[in-house]
Amino acid sequence: MDGLDWLDVVSRIFHVLTAITLVGGSLYAAMVVGPVLRANSAEVADQWQAALTAGWKKWVHGGIALFLLTGFYNYIRAMPLHKGDGLYHALIGTKILLALAVMVIASGLVGRSGAFQFMRDGRRTWQGILLFLAVVIVSMSGFLKVRASMDRPAPATAAQVNAESVSP
Ligand code: HEM
Repeated sequence: MDGLDWLDVVSRIFHVLTAITLVGGSLYAAMVVGPVLRANSAEVADQWQAALTAGWKKWVHGGIALFLLTGFYNYIRAMPLHKGDGLYHALIGTKILLALAVMVIASGLVGRSGAFQFMRDGRRTWQGILLFLAVVIVSMSGFLKVRASMDRPAPATAAQVNAESVSP
């Protein structure tokens, strides 16, 4: 564990925890809460939707702040490791743009701005778009992460692994 930068570890943990919380919460809202609300009268559904949105909004705003903080930190730290790697830059750039789009949709769904009323009116559609984009983003991020670790030269033998792990 020599040379391990603990801030990198903490940033990754918070980035992934934020993704789990926001994507999981959005899935629950779309797949469980939505159908239950639609089974009620419009008046009851609207009341519950307003109460649920008021609670979820804090998580969305906190999550966006954490995504931006940890995401840009990860980005700054990852850049020197991928110099000249065109595919990495293309994919990470696309991922960041898609992530920004997801944040706009998530904010629109919990916000009150008239500009995003069309999202709240078509909540089911926009929740679906958000979840689809989230799956694409997580897939791209996972691919980039694993691809980067596979780029590193692997030790040839188990003996070599053991020798490396005991060497200072
Ligand atoms: C919807 C929002 C987002 C989701 C769901 C998401 C998800 C993820 C996941 C699952 C990982 C893999 C972590 C790991 O295996 O250690 C990751 C890595 C990363 N994310 Fe995000 N992220 C989001 C937003 C952002 C934003 C806004 C930025 C930059 C501003 C960003 C930059 C990065 C970087 C640089 C990595 C490291 C990629 C690598 O391993 O080379 N992410 N993200």
